[in-house]
Amino acid sequence: MIVGTGHYLPDKVLTNADLEKMVDTSDEWITTRTGIKERRVAAPEETTSDFSAAAALSALECAGVEPTEVELIITGTINGDMKFPSTSVFVQQKIGNKKGVGFDVGAACCGFLYSLTVADALIGCGMFNNALVIGTELLTRVTDWDDRRTCVLFGDGSGAVYLEKSQGERGLLSSTLHSDGSLTHLLYYLGEGTKYPSSHKTIDNGYHFLRMDGREIFKYAVREMGNASAQAIEKAGLKPSDIDLVIPHQANIRIINALANRLGVDYDKVVVNIDKTGNTSSASIPIAMDQAHRSGRIVEGMNVLMTVFGGGLTWGAAVVKF
Ligand code: ACO
Repeated sequence: MIVGTGHYLPDKVLTNADLEKMVDTSDEWITTRTGIKERRVAAPEETTSDFSAAAALSALECAGVEPTEVELIITGTINGDMKFPSTSVFVQQKIGNKKGVGFDVGAACCGFLYSLTVADALIGCGMFNNALVIGTELLTRVTDWDDRRTCVLFGDGSGAVYLEKSQGERGLLSSTLHSDGSLTHLLYYLGEGTKYPSSHKTIDNGYHFLRMDGREIFKYAVREMGNASAQAIEKAGLKPSDIDLVIPHQANIRIINALANRLGVDYDKVVVNIDKTGNTSSASIPIAMDQAHRSGRIVEGMNVLMTVFGGGLTWGAAVVKF
């Protein structure tokens, strides 16, 4: 069950007006097409593990647990400090933990949901008593600032939850995860792997930037997040009317609105922060969750539905009782 939540956002704000000076775009286009007004950008010296450690400490403080007590750390990220060691072991070092074990999960925007599911299963089978689950992305580090189709979308941030063994009805009630490897061409980062090891050529060709076919992904996103949400609700033994709050991935306000219509949930039950954060990928759900938790929108006993979609393509949904 989720005992504590936390998040971290960097100080620097990049507004649509700032972007108007960088590429051929407008506040009007970005706002109406995406719902984004501003996003946060990491300072040059900040890393994925700095963000993750800050969010993790905030979740542990919320739970009233010492960092030394953590047994498992899983970070969902596609853009860690370096190729290896994992971001989670840097987090372990930065929060001052020696007892635990850490590893990362790469599932693009779905990184947090996949990590939460893995951590819950590992606690459920008795291997661990508790876990930190983190979603962190510094996608502005792999953004092509000359590509108006992507550079207006992404922001940096981190969110975290601290989990313990479920008690009574509280805990992860259901999770449904999916991927379709025939759609890898819709969202990818070509460089720095075994296919295209770094060279002058990979830099000249811009292989160190994220590329996305947003229009094509949009079609899958609404349909599959809707299907996964219905599956997760049914798997949890609930009806749509039993869901108290929906935390969708913050990729596009039009996707969020279409999803809410499809699920038939009132708009005031849907958490939206995309106007302030942009798309923070795997960090988007845990950031929104912590903001909702700290503002009193999430209280104990609530059924919270999360659903997400991202590169892979990957998608999924889960229901948690707080
Ligand atoms: N400013 C002005 N015009 C723009 C901009 C911009 N920033 N970007 C694109 N345009 C233009 C295009 O060039 C195009 O012009 P054309 O018709 O003359 O060619 C026109 O606007 C429409 O472009 P579309 O791509 O069709 O715009 P669309 O309405 O689809 O919105 C968007 C694009 C916002 C990317 C949307 O498709 C989307 O949100 N897709 C889903 C993204 C997603 O969910 N990704 C998964 C998660 S991300 C992750 O996993 C890391």
